[in-house]
Amino acid sequence: MKFKITIIATLSMLLIAAFLLQTHSVGALSTGISGFSGKDSIYCNACHNDATAIVPTVTMFGPQIVLPGSTHTYTLKISGGQALNPAAPAPGGGLDVAASAGALNILAGATDTRVESGEITHTMRKPVDANGDVFFSFEWTAPGSASTETLYGAGNSVNGNGTNQGDAANITTLDIYVVDELPPPQAYVPIAIK
Ligand code: HEC
Repeated sequence: MKFKITIIATLSMLLIAAFLLQTHSVGALSTGISGFSGKDSIYCNACHNDATAIVPTVTMFGPQIVLPGSTHTYTLKISGGQALNPAAPAPGGGLDVAASAGALNILAGATDTRVESGEITHTMRKPVDANGDVFFSFEWTAPGSASTETLYGAGNSVNGNGTNQGDAANITTLDIYVVDELPPPQAYVPIAIK
């Protein structure tokens, strides 16, 4: 009898421990995530896929013709999405950016981003700006020789309710040509107005 109670007590303790561990790892998601940039055909909507949420537009921009080994700033923008939903408690966004090669880094002093497994992710939900957009900037260093590379970016538009409900994500890519010599600047030819 005593033996039975010990087993039941041990089992329930194990169950509680497993439950706590699980909630702990899930609770860490709002502080960033890697492996969901779209590079491996999977992104945030694997968990943030509320059919009633508004799917945002996600774009990435920055220099697309660069020298080997050079470092440049790139920006991921999330627009639309939960900012358009008046019922969203605190619309904001998060991201995951991965590169085909080269090195990703946060901007000096940045607190909105961090590196996880070589990818750029958020440190916490970033609130939308006055226009309802969320911008994340970061650095990418090109590989040491000429090649064509791709940045894979996922942006999640969240409503700020602290769960994965009411959120929707989207993905984008940016191709970057790493060349040994930069093309000459384009001559500006004014068009005569008739
Ligand atoms: C494996 C499931 C899963 C994936 C994949 C996932 N999330 Fe989450 N995310 C959650 C859960 C669960 C929560 C709520 C708990 C928490 O805050 O961690 C959450 C919360 C968040 C929040 C706060 C939401 C709010 O409304 O307050 C942000 C921001 C966020 N995730 C961003 C992302 C981004 C960006 C991606 C993709 C690059 C992503 N998540 C992928 C499960 C996931």
